[in-house]
Amino acid sequence: MNERDLLATVPIFSDLSKSEMDHLCDIVIHRSYKKGNMILMEDEFGDTFFIIKEGSVKITRLSEDGREVILAMLGEGEFFGEMSLLDGQTRSANAIALEDSEALILKRVEFIALLKKYPKVSISLLRELTQRLRKSDQQIESLSLSNAEHKIGITLLRLADEMGTIRHGKVTIKNLPYQQDIANMAGTSRETVSRTLKILEERNLIERTEHSLIILDYLQFKRLFGK
Ligand code: CMP
Repeated sequence: MNERDLLATVPIFSDLSKSEMDHLCDIVIHRSYKKGNMILMEDEFGDTFFIIKEGSVKITRLSEDGREVILAMLGEGEFFGEMSLLDGQTRSANAIALEDSEALILKRVEFIALLKKYPKVSISLLRELTQRLRKSDQQIESLSLSNAEHKIGITLLRLADEMGTIRHGKVTIKNLPYQQDIANMAGTSRETVSRTLKILEERNLIERTEHSLIILDYLQFKRLFGK
């Protein structure tokens, strides 16, 4: 996808006119990251806003005992880096490339100017931040559960909502994250993820192939693990 088409699919920019979009294309900077590269680091000062052009990025923090906690996994067309630009504080989390990735970057002054000039962009940004807050609320609730199966069930539902495709009541999650990453999202261990996925498979709730996972009856799964 070229950058203009991509920017048009970014929800916060979808209301911009053609000339406004042309202006945006003129001012974005391109940057590439190799798999595993740290794109931005918690506690650093930052003055850039990122839109993922290709690839995917995990947003993480380290717990006190040094474990990685995954706050979100973001894909093509999604953005990050806005928080420190808005509140003037340091970066709230790390952003790490999950695969070879490309980003479009806006400098703080341009990002803020865009928000001031186009209220629709600001409102879309607020809508997206509200959705992220809802997901974080769910994650906090899930992390507080003692039952590992439930934690992992909720994490699979989140992955299904963020990256799954639904067909005839089944949700397929392609390019399923590594078991260690699922564990870091759910707040449990890789071994527990491995064991729980086997149990869910034996109960005919999921099916797995090498890189994907299918939730066989999404509504039933949601009744078991969702709200
Ligand atoms: P910033 O604080 O500038 O740098 C880290 C970025 O990670 C942050 O902006 C957000 O874009 C992103 N981020 C932080 N917490 C979350 C979260 N809970 N969900 C999604 N993205 C987040």
